[in-house]
Amino acid sequence: MIKVHIRGGKVMTKRYYLTTPIYYPSDNLHIGHTYTTVAADTLKKFKQAQGYEVYLVTGSDEHGQKIEQKAKENNMEPKAYVDMIVENIKKLWSMLGISYDKFIRTTDKEHEEVVQKIFTKLYEQGDIYKSYYEGWYCTPCESFWTESQLEDGKCPDCGREVHLTKEEAYFFRLSKYRDKIIQLFEENPDFLQPETRRNEMIKNFLEEGLEDISVSRSTFDWGVKVPFDPKHVVYVWIDALACYITALGYGTDNDENFKQFWPANLHLVGKEIVRFHTIIWPALLMALGLEIPKKVFGHGWILFDNDKMSKSKGNVIYPEPIIELYGIDAFRYFLLREFSFGQDGSFNKEKFLQRFNSDLANDLGNLVSRTVTMVNKYNEGILPEPVLKEEVDDSLVEMAIDTKAKVEKYMDDLNFSQALEEIWKVIRRTNKYIDETTPWILIKEGKKDRLDTVLYNLTESIRIIATLISPFMENTAKEIFKQIGFDQEANWETSSKWGIIKAGTKVNKGKALFPRLDIDKELARWEEANQKLIEERSKQLEEEEEYITIDDFAKVQLKVAEVIDVEDHPNADKLLVLKLKVGDETRQVVSGIKKYYSKEDLVGKKVVVVTNLQPVKLRGVESKGMILAAEKDGKLTLVSTLEDIEAGATIS
Ligand code: ME8
Ligand code: MG
Repeated sequence: MIKVHIRGGKVMTKRYYLTTPIYYPSDNLHIGHTYTTVAADTLKKFKQAQGYEVYLVTGSDEHGQKIEQKAKENNMEPKAYVDMIVENIKKLWSMLGISYDKFIRTTDKEHEEVVQKIFTKLYEQGDIYKSYYEGWYCTPCESFWTESQLEDGKCPDCGREVHLTKEEAYFFRLSKYRDKIIQLFEENPDFLQPETRRNEMIKNFLEEGLEDISVSRSTFDWGVKVPFDPKHVVYVWIDALACYITALGYGTDNDENFKQFWPANLHLVGKEIVRFHTIIWPALLMALGLEIPKKVFGHGWILFDNDKMSKSKGNVIYPEPIIELYGIDAFRYFLLREFSFGQDGSFNKEKFLQRFNSDLANDLGNLVSRTVTMVNKYNEGILPEPVLKEEVDDSLVEMAIDTKAKVEKYMDDLNFSQALEEIWKVIRRTNKYIDETTPWILIKEGKKDRLDTVLYNLTESIRIIATLISPFMENTAKEIFKQIGFDQEANWETSSKWGIIKAGTKVNKGKALFPRLDIDKELARWEEANQKLIEERSKQLEEEEEYITIDDFAKVQLKVAEVIDVEDHPNADKLLVLKLKVGDETRQVVSGIKKYYSKEDLVGKKVVVVTNLQPVKLRGVESKGMILAAEKDGKLTLVSTLEDIEAGATIS
């Protein structure tokens, strides 16, 4: 730890408080969700390397009507439901090597108590007042909508009638803080980055004028109760934003962390929640008389083929298979290298695999393996003394020791991608140095002094590279240090110094860091791992669900269908593509029964089909529905009716 300044005789430490958002508990966490957290963790490790004491907060945002409904759908109490789901978030963070200091849950008792205190304080000082919330109410959904949210005058969720209602609610005087927030934006150009988001906030919200916002709900009760009016619960955003201070113990007797770390140096958030963090949050803090965070950064979205990832579109990319197949470090590297942090970017599996091959296997992996192999082969595994320098060495040394400053500059702007690119320039330069100096010719010509210098320079450059990548790829850095025999702690400061690794060090040839991949094979393996994960997840949920109601069952539409044609699936060995007649309609269903049935077995037969299943593409072929089969111990038989009945008959 670097102790930097002295105040009143006391040595002060450089501190850095960093947060990710507080995540909605979800059974469907995808790579987009890992983006903010991977970036935050990398930044934490980077700041730590620079000598800061860093506190990283993440957590879960567990209240609200949606969660209440989800719990109900699963026949669970909300708390039991979130207890189960929050584990998914924690599991994922641990899988990604995220080293947070505090995981705050909005259902933590201490947090709830402080939220109540905050609400009461703001009410007592007149920043929160009681009034009426007017809007269009959908009774079955228990939801309020504004005029513009309605679709054709109907509820946008269920499509049913809505009626104009007035409901009692508490309001926060956001309007009162407008001038102060404009001032905050004007006086602190760095407060919100990137620049484009700042302009967006100013134009779309601040210049338009701010209206007071309703900060309580009385139509559901899964939330923090308003202490002096318990038929209301506190609006989820007040509850969630408060986590940034309750995580530090604000409002409790144990507020040492709050005193040391507040105000936050950086809130990292996705672009869709910038408004909450840069308008509502500062206003709340102003009302509480607390300091304003130094910076909010709104990063872009990871899309899939330029579309939002969603379960219903079936285009979700899950992190688990990637980590399982290619490792945490390749995953983290790709997220931070491929996308520009401030902008949207599209995820593409081929691109991931190509980058793995070019940047990780070819550039970095090869450099380390070639170097260690040569030290083994030409000098019995011992790092030699550099004795005979030549001009070509200078450009390598210069570039290697200059990179630290460049990386620091880009990291200050949260430009992870460019920071990595600077490191990769050194990697590529060092590879080129091997081709320029041709050690295999030096050994043949007996130029041992020169060869020794080349081997030393290569290894020393690799030491610098490993130090620089350590905040991004901790495991890889450690493995490289092991292979080059560098046994000191990675020390950030020495990444701009030459001559640190000692001659006489013994190198250790290890496994390839990133073995080259066959892209076509990997695409198939990846898809398989993905399917396995999806199946496991749905099994896990099935096990949690013990009973369904008759209404749940009624959601499934089952019909008798006649098989009129059967074809092999063009891209999958186990699948058949069936044409079914269901009443007047013909539909296509893909089914994994090829092992059990042939075309001849099926055509003309009656089967049972689920007709209202979300259509999907299975390996590129559309499937509308699912046919039912019974299975036990590897035996499978299709379900049919006892007596013959016309195709299209409903089953209930
Ligand atoms: O918004 N690409 O939680 P959340 C990039 N509970 N980032 C993505 C993404 C994608 N495709 N999908 C999600 C909430 N994220 C609130 C926050 S804070 C006081 C309360 C990011 O679970 C998203 O932008 O919906 C956000 O930063 C984070 O995941 C959590 O989103
Ligand atoms: Mg969201």
